Amino acid sequence: MEDWNQQTIESFRRDLLTWYDQEGRQHLPWRKNQDPYRVLVSELMLQQTRVDTVITYFNRFMDALPTVLDLAKAPEEQVLKLWEGLGYYSRARNLQKAAQVVAFELKGKWPESYDDLLTLPGVGPYTAAAVASIAFGEVVPAIDGNFFRVFSRLLKIDDDIAKPKTRRVFYDAVAPIVDPKRPGDFNQAIMDLGTSYMKTKDPDTLHSPVLKYNAAYRDGVEEEYPVKSKKKKPVSQMYEALVVYNENGDLLYEQRPDSGLLAGFWTLPLRPIDSVEQLDGEQLTIKPVSHIFSHRKWSIWPVSVETPDELAKNQRFFTEEEQQALALPKVQHKILQALKEL
Ligand code: ADE
Repeated sequence: MEDWNQQTIESFRRDLLTWYDQEGRQHLPWRKNQDPYRVLVSELMLQQTRVDTVITYFNRFMDALPTVLDLAKAPEEQVLKLWEGLGYYSRARNLQKAAQVVAFELKGKWPESYDDLLTLPGVGPYTAAAVASIAFGEVVPAIDGNFFRVFSRLLKIDDDIAKPKTRRVFYDAVAPIVDPKRPGDFNQAIMDLGTSYMKTKDPDTLHSPVLKYNAAYRDGVEEEYPVKSKKKKPVSQMYEALVVYNENGDLLYEQRPDSGLLAGFWTLPLRPIDSVEQLDGEQLTIKPVSHIFSHRKWSIWPVSVETPDELAKNQRFFTEEEQQALALPKVQHKILQALKEL
């Protein structure tokens, strides 16, 4: 690992922030001001998907719920609807819980330090560091995937970033490098660097504003960084999705249990199967609907079955409008799309 002296650290900060001031993405809507509410919402969204997609979601969210109090008071269904398509809904539920803590328990007074922000529901080390540095000027590195990539290359850090204890190694190496006067801009400059000159695929290191600090590039081993062991493949599971319409053309849904994958969401009734021979009704599609969660891969066969005599407590027919008003998980949208294409 490289060990920068104070002079190198200071010149790195200068080069990085000069570049950021000239070519950073200051136009991003959550960079308009340092409102902790906007920073928190954007950071949580950015953990779900790409910047381009987040811009739309973020603006819609802020139009609907412009303050932390608005979010705290909103019906959960509205929050989930605004989050729909981003996936991982527990993040949205926790975001609302965090807003309720700030708005009601703390009377609108935000926790300002990294340690205090960590106590909010759903706020982990990365998010706490991002909010503390961007909104409150605390000098902490905000360590996410971008950050690992950028600094593993600059400093040639060989530790496996898939291991939880590696975060500490990066923290210790980079905390002294964060600019004490502009920690939020420093962290955001690293994000911008990590999605431009130092992105994962086809990095343009030669034109990078911090080329001269890149030890991995200097040694011709940039492609080997960051060091990351392979994740296990997601486990495959097969399901049949029962497709049942009533006489009005409403579709039968079933609410999932309060815990586990997609807790509390409505989907078509899903039944696990071991093979297509086990399907209970007429197979409707040639290919299964496929959806990957972080640890699981679902293959779902929609089958047409008779209307049951009685509905279970967690089952209901929904009209077209009701289906549109509900926050449906992505996998259910995929099933609906497959049915539409029949
Ligand atoms: N990725 C994570 N946080 C970000 C931010 N504040 N701006 C741009 N990309 C990001």
